[in-house]
Amino acid sequence: SPLLDIDASKVTVQETTAPKDLLPSNELVFGRTFTDHMLSIEWTASEGWLAPRITPYQNLSLDPASCVFHYGFECFEGMKAYKDNKGKIRLFRPTKNMERMNKSSARIAMPNFDGNQVIQLISKLVKLDERFIPTGRGYSLYLRPTLIGTQRTLGVGPPGSALLYVIMSPVGPYYPTGFKAISLEATDYAVRAWPGGVGDKKLGANYAPCILPQLEAAKRGFQQNLWLFGKEEYITEVGTMNLFVAIQHKDGQKELITAPLDGTILEGVTRDSVLTLARDKLVSEGWKISERKITMPELAQASKERRLLEAFGAGTAAVVSPIRNISYRGELVGCGLKLEEEAGPLAQKFLEWIGARQYGDEEHEWSYVV
Ligand code: COI
Repeated sequence: SPLLDIDASKVTVQETTAPKDLLPSNELVFGRTFTDHMLSIEWTASEGWLAPRITPYQNLSLDPASCVFHYGFECFEGMKAYKDNKGKIRLFRPTKNMERMNKSSARIAMPNFDGNQVIQLISKLVKLDERFIPTGRGYSLYLRPTLIGTQRTLGVGPPGSALLYVIMSPVGPYYPTGFKAISLEATDYAVRAWPGGVGDKKLGANYAPCILPQLEAAKRGFQQNLWLFGKEEYITEVGTMNLFVAIQHKDGQKELITAPLDGTILEGVTRDSVLTLARDKLVSEGWKISERKITMPELAQASKERRLLEAFGAGTAAVVSPIRNISYRGELVGCGLKLEEEAGPLAQKFLEWIGARQYGDEEHEWSYVV
């Protein structure tokens, strides 16, 4: 018999008998507290996807031999649900996350699924836990779809069973007091991703090795590290975010640049949103928008000549994260901000433009009303 795909209509719901207290919005810490319920969908190689279950948020019970613990069979997504000013719940470009999760899963020999069914199930889960969605710009419910290999074996092979689950955490603005520009340390002793590798997939295995360079940077007073690649020192990503830089060429041409999707760069949904908005709104103002490689020496030179206008990270968690300077070869490379500024005009515009679509202030196809 053919393997079953995920069928949202088969979901069973068991509601909690112990609803949690809500934290005041100003006490929310990213990913620290979770809602009342979770979604779980089991998969077996012989049957396919079994009936989805919404249950109280609870511990998993897994055999210690489960392959997730030994060989890193895990991928995840980061996405958000927003409450608009009419009380409607909205997801932001959820099909992008489902497509990416399927690509991540396939790369580690795990099963694919119908993303539309999971979006319907997530919608049901979000509605059930609606009271946890904090309101106001910058506030949202962070959703964490996770897929793990559960087969009980130390044999190295494709998992014969898997579990897809979704948990949800109410979050506040990344910078509660408004933008706060960060300082970076360019990492020259480790690489995040490499050609032919898996840096373009959202695998848990890509994240754990990033902590040490981050701690090293923090030791020297930098909030994040900047990932370079190769002897050319191409700039790739910042911490767990995609990176954008705005430079002005000697002939006056302004260019917004981010690294191309060459397999070493995560296909960020925020990255894509920034690029799309830039092409829609900035080209007519004379900007050139480029997905291309640029090296750290080029960036340092542009900074020295006061042609580096702005730099910012882009990701689901922070949306945009302005950068003040980059420590590189013992020098501080300024990124265009004046001392009293926390964000440049582009970072501010993108935060506003993306926010307008996330919170439904601008009706747009990127916003999915649940
Ligand atoms: C993001 O949203 O920028 C991230 O990738 C961070 C997440 C892993 C917490």
